[in-house]
Amino acid sequence: MAVLNHEARALALLHWYTTNRRDLPWRADRHPWPILVSEIMLQQTQAGRVVPFYRRFMARFPTPVALAEAPPAEVLALWSGLGYNRRAIRLQEAARRIAADGWPPDAAGLQSLAGVGPYTAAAVACFSYAEQIPTPDTNLQRVLSRWHGRPLNGRGLIEVAQKELPPGRAADWNQAIMDLGAGVCRPAEPLCTDCPVVQWCAGPETYVAPPSSGQFRGSSREARGAVIRNLVQQGPATMPQLSMQTGLEPQRLRHALEALAQEGMVEQSESGHFRLPGS
Ligand code: ADE
Repeated sequence: MAVLNHEARALALLHWYTTNRRDLPWRADRHPWPILVSEIMLQQTQAGRVVPFYRRFMARFPTPVALAEAPPAEVLALWSGLGYNRRAIRLQEAARRIAADGWPPDAAGLQSLAGVGPYTAAAVACFSYAEQIPTPDTNLQRVLSRWHGRPLNGRGLIEVAQKELPPGRAADWNQAIMDLGAGVCRPAEPLCTDCPVVQWCAGPETYVAPPSSGQFRGSSREARGAVIRNLVQQGPATMPQLSMQTGLEPQRLRHALEALAQEGMVEQSESGHFRLPGS
C-alpha cells in the first residue's frame, strides 16, 4: 500500500518530537485543571514567560475549588506581570462553575466556560480527554498553510488538520506542531534547514502571517496593567495617589479605572479608595 504524504509527514514530525520536545511543566500532567490553567496563560503569551507564573499559580491554586474560593485580589496578585489580567478573572469564574457543576465532558461543553474559546477547549479536550481533534491556534494555521501552499483558516483549517492527524496520536501531534512553530517554522525567519518535514512542504513564502496586534506602549492595556500592578504592590489608593504612583495622566487613569471597574477587577470604597476586589 502506498504511504500517503500526510502519513509520512506525521511520522517524521512525531519522530522529531521525541528528541526535540520542550520540557514544559504542564506537559507532565493529564488532569484538565493544569491543562486549562496553562492554556489560558498561553493565550497571547509565550511559553517561556508563562512557566514561572504557572508554577506559582498552581502551587497556590492546585484545584478549581482552591481558585474558586480565593479573594480576587490574591488571584490578580499572582497573575499581575503576565498581562491580560482579565484572563485571571475569567479563569476564576470558570473555576467556580467547575467547582459547582463538575467538568464539562467534551470540547463543545468546555466552550461554555468563561474565557474558553474554540482553541482552549480543543486543547483541554485533546490533552486531557484524549479527543482526537486539532488545536487550531496560530501555530497550526501557519504550519499547515505552509505545508499546503495556501492560507488556511476557519473550517478549512480544521478539515485539513483532521486529515493530517495520525490516529490515536493527536495530543503529541498538536504539541509537536506547537514546538515546530515556536522553534523552526517561525513566523519570521523560519529555519527550514532544521525542519523534519521540509520535503513535504510547499515552503514558508506561500504564507504571510498577519501583522501582530498593535503597540503596547501608550495603549489602554498598558494603563490598566499599571493600575493593577500598583494596587497589588501598594494596596488601596485614591485617584491622586494612583496618578502619582503610576505616572498616568488623570484622563488616561480615569479611563483605565472605568474599564477595570466594569470588568470587575477594581472597586471603589466609600472613602474613595480604589482597591482590588476582596483586598
Ligand atoms: N502554546 C499554546 N499551548 C501550548 C502548549 N500546550 N505548549 C506549548 N506552547 C503552547
